Amino acid sequence: MNTRLIVVVLAALLGGGLLAMALLPAAPPATNSATTGKASVGGPFELTSQNDRRVSDKDFRGKLMLVYFGYTFCPDVCPAGLQVISAALDKLGTRADDVVPIFISLDPERDTPAKLKEYLGSFNPRLLGLTGTPEEIAAVAKAYRAYYKKVPDAKHPDEYSVDHTSIIYLMGRDGTYVGHASHASSFEKLAEQIANAL
Ligand code: NI
Repeated sequence: MNTRLIVVVLAALLGGGLLAMALLPAAPPATNSATTGKASVGGPFELTSQNDRRVSDKDFRGKLMLVYFGYTFCPDVCPAGLQVISAALDKLGTRADDVVPIFISLDPERDTPAKLKEYLGSFNPRLLGLTGTPEEIAAVAKAYRAYYKKVPDAKHPDEYSVDHTSIIYLMGRDGTYVGHASHASSFEKLAEQIANAL
């Protein structure tokens, strides 16, 4: 297990822990605290798509969103996550028309709209790729509690990788958090999670 993988796994566990903490009822069982917990993951964003259009989360109200953060140079984790998403959508068939799968780049300097378009085309035509300014990406990552960090390549000073959490967020028709999976989840389970939320 290389260092990067360990970091990703630790970060994923930490992310899961944070999510679990965020969703724990903070108030006595008599009151409904679910709404408070849901509101703590996710939030508004306005970013640029692989087709060079400005896109807002509000464009997808009334549909489910799958939100996954990563970057196109990612050696193995992101491809695995995108394959899980893609296979789950294929399994759902036409029911997936009500689901918007979104890949948000954590490497906006290298992931231009054109780069995203080329990369995502090899996974699934349904995928919406989003990038933006470093500030816009930082804001949306913070809203989703997605950790990421640029790591310089020791051998090639001009190159770097990006350590990041690998959580697939399922957001409801109203844009609030419903549940999550990861690149290590089975696509059947993700498809079931999505079907339950449709
Ligand atoms: Ni990745």
